[in-house]
Amino acid sequence: MANIIDGKAVSASVKEKIAKETAALKEKYGINIGLAVVIVGDDPASRIYVNNKKKACEAVGFESYEYALSADTTQEELLALVDKLNNDDKVNGILVQLPLPKHLDEKAVINSISPEKDVDAFHPVNVGKIMIGEYSFLPCTPAGIMELIASTGVEIKGKECVVVGRSNIVGKPMSMLLLHESGTVTICHSKTNDLAEHCRKADILVVAVGVPKLVTGDMIKEGAVVIDVGMNRLENGKLCGDVDFDSAKEKASFITPVPGGVGPMTIAMLMKNTLTAAKIKHGIA
Ligand code: GUN
Repeated sequence: MANIIDGKAVSASVKEKIAKETAALKEKYGINIGLAVVIVGDDPASRIYVNNKKKACEAVGFESYEYALSADTTQEELLALVDKLNNDDKVNGILVQLPLPKHLDEKAVINSISPEKDVDAFHPVNVGKIMIGEYSFLPCTPAGIMELIASTGVEIKGKECVVVGRSNIVGKPMSMLLLHESGTVTICHSKTNDLAEHCRKADILVVAVGVPKLVTGDMIKEGAVVIDVGMNRLENGKLCGDVDFDSAKEKASFITPVPGGVGPMTIAMLMKNTLTAAKIKHGIA
């Protein structure tokens, strides 16, 4: 029976550290840290995420600046706002909530954010830095997962790490971070032959595909660390991960629940990146 990794507790302890450092920066240097959050349209899930990000800013002592734009905002208007925020001294981090409405060019918007303020680490400059291990910002979800793995005390070095999913936001950067810690990394995806066989080899298994209960207990090695990034809404309204929690917990040594596992970590790492951006700007990092 697995130990349940408590993402809420790990996230709270990361945020507590950030709050202390933020207070110290304010007291010692008079630095106020600010995060700009841009939301376009009225997607209910995005609204919840944005509200949670604002709440987290308040909890750690950052200023948050929300820009809620209507769904018919043009590309030019959005780029003009990003440009203004790039040049705003009060703003240390810029987050444009994704997905954007279909008529907007997401890639162009991400590329327009100054890499020094790109606290999502989505800009190609920051993505490139992750490849060579010279990063200022780590993408929030993979960075949060690294904290969760660290909280188990399980060493990554030399371990078989299997990442299921190859998204730019989670799968690819996750694989890089595990590789930087000297894991032996396999990336699986929708065209992988015999997914179960790959998963069964994993000492550390990270699943980020958006398919409810794709990975079941029989696909998990005895004693593996299982990280479930999935957040799927079932027909009955309940949330469930990409891992079948009930069967997986019988095999894993550690497992993240959904909700309450990876989710809370993403926002904590966003706060960490914003703090880092402010420290770099003021030459303190
Ligand atoms: N939409 C869902 N997750 C994220 C995230 O981590 N960052 C941004 N900008 N948008 C998202």
